[in-house]
Amino acid sequence: MLTIHTIPELRAQLAEWRRAGQRIAFVPTMGNLHRGHLELARRGRQMADRVVSSVFVNPLQFGPNEDFGRYPRTLEQDKAALAEVGADLLFAPTAQEVYPRGMEGLAKVSVSSASNILCGHFRPGHFDGVATVVSILFNLVQPDAALFGEKDYQQLFIIRRMVADLHMPIDIIGIATEREPDGLALSSRNQYLTEEQRQLAPEMYATLREVADKLRAGRRDFPALCYTGVKRLEASHFRPQYLEVRAPDLSEPKRDSKEFVILAAAYLGKTRLIDNVSLSI
Ligand code: PAJ
Repeated sequence: MLTIHTIPELRAQLAEWRRAGQRIAFVPTMGNLHRGHLELARRGRQMADRVVSSVFVNPLQFGPNEDFGRYPRTLEQDKAALAEVGADLLFAPTAQEVYPRGMEGLAKVSVSSASNILCGHFRPGHFDGVATVVSILFNLVQPDAALFGEKDYQQLFIIRRMVADLHMPIDIIGIATEREPDGLALSSRNQYLTEEQRQLAPEMYATLREVADKLRAGRRDFPALCYTGVKRLEASHFRPQYLEVRAPDLSEPKRDSKEFVILAAAYLGKTRLIDNVSLSI
């Protein structure tokens, strides 16, 4: 596997593969790779001739009081893991390489319809930072397909909308959430949890599933369902930011909808966890 840190080298290598008519799948990440990330790379391997992954902790998507500084950076391990699942190229640029003119006055991409709700309400600017860096990476890599986890449901939704609105010729593939045996969604942030918090963490998925079961049983009193879910999280020492039932396009659900997604974000100690469950009736 090649590891490349600069844009000219990245472009030269990709041009060679493209000239040979090879199909390129792309997996953008912030590194500290776990089984969830690696599953994206594995699926990319099945659908393309070349798998390109990026590791870049994007300063633009972190708020001033968020964990940019302490986000785990484990490039050597990430290299080995990506090589093992058959990735062809790792692009690991510096912030200087990605944002050579700095962030002041930067051209940004904003999916305004979906960026200020749910997680976006609590993380102002976050999804604009994500959409901007992903469009930069898409412009650099020009992949045929790009893979994203359903764990970050709102992010995946925003990327799909961006690609559609900006006519980017890229297939966006969503991949199911990888979980621990007890249900906790894999996340690089799980390692911030204390032993005690780690024991409580699976309650988030259990709570989402309980709401899903009630919807499946015919309940449609959405606010009451969400209130009960929030109370259950609080009883397990979470500090919920939101727990909501939505339609798959993140609009308010309707009583006669056949598909729902239940999304939650909550702090456990200092760690912010998110998860979601989709269901069709
Ligand atoms: P990061 O959190 O590193 O996640 C990279 C990709 O892995 C995302 O598509 C995410 O949804 C997926 N992923 C994370 N945990 C997963 C799990 N348990 N199961 C399946 N997939 C999982 O998301 C980002 O980075 C950044 O916002 C990025 C898109 C790279 C832009 O900076």
